[in-house]
Amino acid sequence: MKSSAPGKVILFGEHAVVYNRPALAVPVTQVHADVEVLDSPRKGVWINAPDINLHAELNSLPSDHPIASVILKVFQRFDISQPPALNVSITSTIPVASGLGSGAAVSIAIIRSLSSFLIHPLPDKEINSIAYEIEKLHHGTPSGIDNTVITYSRPVYFIKGEPIETFTVGKPFTIVIGDTGISAPTKESVGDVRRLWLHDQSNFENIFDEIAQIVLIARRSIESGKPEMLGELMDQNHAFLQSLTVSSPELDKLVEAARNAGALGAKLSGGGRGGNMIALTEQPTAESVANALMSAGAKRTIITEIN
Ligand code: PMV
Repeated sequence: MKSSAPGKVILFGEHAVVYNRPALAVPVTQVHADVEVLDSPRKGVWINAPDINLHAELNSLPSDHPIASVILKVFQRFDISQPPALNVSITSTIPVASGLGSGAAVSIAIIRSLSSFLIHPLPDKEINSIAYEIEKLHHGTPSGIDNTVITYSRPVYFIKGEPIETFTVGKPFTIVIGDTGISAPTKESVGDVRRLWLHDQSNFENIFDEIAQIVLIARRSIESGKPEMLGELMDQNHAFLQSLTVSSPELDKLVEAARNAGALGAKLSGGGRGGNMIALTEQPTAESVANALMSAGAKRTIITEIN
């Protein structure tokens, strides 16, 4: 039983989304996690993840291991105490710890393929809620945006705890993703923002409100087929993220380089401090913006069309 899950990027609203403001995220289908579950001739549940050099039997891993914990949750969901002999093969082209949702995508592909293998394919709603439990195990207090956009594989307007709203893209647009190559745990930047917020709630609440306004205007621009308006909104959102202290010299350098190379706007995406930034470009300039990002120190770029 095979299953695939895409990567994702947050377009607008990261961090503020933890404080119940809306955020927009879209799937990135150029990168994906793929899982295949098959009967095994050997007793036990064998996990093969060559990308991370993992070849192990489930019981030999700690129960809080990111992959073991997903498999155990699925068995638990079906009250399976004696799992059948099986092989779980996991591969992924999503860069790890860079804000593209690699952990959530692997979880979701496992849940989907394993539940189908067990002849109980789970509905998206349940896949999403199991994936969220796993995100909580590993990331502290995640908003749930990653697992949601990846489970539904559609653009999502996300507010924590509210029913999922997908939205339509009036006119396709091009995003260039630039990876600083710096792995920065989201848990830390979220924790730092929390500490700053505790000291100065009114200032931070104001910033979150400003970001929420940007998200609303961005959604309207995307739906009404005016994506060119997103450039300026990205620049504004990036400035607010800088004041939340979650940017970094490397991210700022890439954002600047993208703008200088003709991008309509750019911002960091995700937890910040490292990981990714995104730039809005006209389709013909995407390649030169990607080249400029590489020259400015990006380790990798992805050009993706949002439609
Ligand atoms: O670093 P990423 O792409 O997983 O995104 C984190 C987004 C935050 O808003 C900073 C945290 C969250 O849980 O929503």
